[in-house]
Amino acid sequence: MADKLIIFDTTLRDGEQSPGASMTRDEKLRIARQLERLRVDVIEAGFAASSNGDFEAVQAIANAIKDSTICSLSRANDRDISRAAEALKGANNGRIHTFIATSPLHMEKKLRMTPDQVLEQAKQSVRFARNLVADVEFSPEDGYRSDMDFLCQVLEAVIAEGATTINVPDTVGYAVPELYGQFIKTLRERIPNSDKAIWSVHCHNDLGMAVANSLAGVKLGGARQVECTINGLGERAGNCSLEEIVMAVKTRKDYFGLEMNIDPIHIVAASRMVSQTTGFVVQPNKAVVGANAFAHASGIHQDGVLKARDTYEIMRAEDVGWSANKIVLGKLSGRNAFKQRLQELGVVLESESELNAAFTRFKELADRKSEIFDEDILALVSEESVTQDKEQYAFVSLAQHSETGERPQASIVFTVEGKEVHGKSDGNGPVDASLKAIESIVESGAEMVLYSVNAISGSTESQGEVTVRLQNSGRVVNGVGADPDIIVASAKAYLSALNKLQSKADRVAAQG
Ligand code: KIV
Ligand code: ZN
Repeated sequence: MADKLIIFDTTLRDGEQSPGASMTRDEKLRIARQLERLRVDVIEAGFAASSNGDFEAVQAIANAIKDSTICSLSRANDRDISRAAEALKGANNGRIHTFIATSPLHMEKKLRMTPDQVLEQAKQSVRFARNLVADVEFSPEDGYRSDMDFLCQVLEAVIAEGATTINVPDTVGYAVPELYGQFIKTLRERIPNSDKAIWSVHCHNDLGMAVANSLAGVKLGGARQVECTINGLGERAGNCSLEEIVMAVKTRKDYFGLEMNIDPIHIVAASRMVSQTTGFVVQPNKAVVGANAFAHASGIHQDGVLKARDTYEIMRAEDVGWSANKIVLGKLSGRNAFKQRLQELGVVLESESELNAAFTRFKELADRKSEIFDEDILALVSEESVTQDKEQYAFVSLAQHSETGERPQASIVFTVEGKEVHGKSDGNGPVDASLKAIESIVESGAEMVLYSVNAISGSTESQGEVTVRLQNSGRVVNGVGADPDIIVASAKAYLSALNKLQSKADRVAAQG
């Protein structure tokens, strides 16, 4: 039987560390459910000790998700590890992932610790974690830039203390495939008890090689766990992309010879859910999940594919969840058809009242838009889950006037903790006037660092999806809003970002 490759998803932890990608507890729970559907082996749900919000998210995911192992990150100290264990109490299978930096640069400049102190702390932390859970992962942060002899010493010691997985991060994305693969191989060969742990790769994408490096760690190094994120979400240039790893290992099974639990049919829905929740748009030419990933534009290619698919296609679009027929529902569709479509899209609404609320919004949308696409439904339910979150600010209505040669005016109604308020403003354009009308009431003082509009399903009849990124007191958040009227979508996105600014507690940085 072929060896198994463990897929460890860290969208909700390392992915979420990307500036602006922070998610609410309910958003994380929805994504975790989608990851479970995808049959991800391990879900890193957060960093429990970093904030109360993260603790609650890890706890909610540990209580709700039963098929995947649920993991919490923790620094190598007793307090963090105890918090992680506490948050994981409800999990069927819980894992504590503890880490400490081992590179000379990080030890000296960041930790201000000697190598001996780091070694002791690593050992002590793994011992402490193993007394709380059976499944303990250890990561030497900036492992790839660490001294080989010292790294071997640390990893041998933590395996002896009971670490069950050893993860070797290329924290700064410095590795190249052959060297990284060789690095893992050397560690496994030189550490006498290396066979007592599963070896894992964790690569960042600063030089665009995270996927290639991870694959080399698997093929040359013998790693059997890959840490990755949906859409490659993550700080700076991101992490290794789950969809690319999975489809590379599957499509080239002849070369890798590995089995995975993953059910790739849920990949596209997971990708959309993550991009709609975080506001990080997927580039059209992104492998596997980009809008053009399976579009053959050149005449020669189209002709070839029509004659025999495999002339130009190495994977089938439908195998990763692209549906051939994109028009799904319309005005005449009933509640059952809507419910079934949600099931096909892998969306689980918790209660009948949530389903009813989503169906009402679907009907309202169908009155304004004749064809409802999968993307519209996903946008609608993500908004639904946001409004269920008892947010501080909620959109009610908007009126605006713009005419060539005149300064646009907007007046908006929204609620603040359930009470209706009215704001008015003019602006450079109708969007500017609408957002200033909100600010006339809220006075957040936040700076807008990004505003982008995307047509959800590609035509002017489609819904506009707006992402707004706000920055305030060093915190960065993204808000997303969708509506056929892009000015309304902008106001919704702005309010959603303000809600996140309100709710985002100060966090401890995982790699600070
Ligand atoms: O990149 C990194 O080093 C990490 C560790 C905390 C595992 O994300
Ligand atoms: Zn990382």
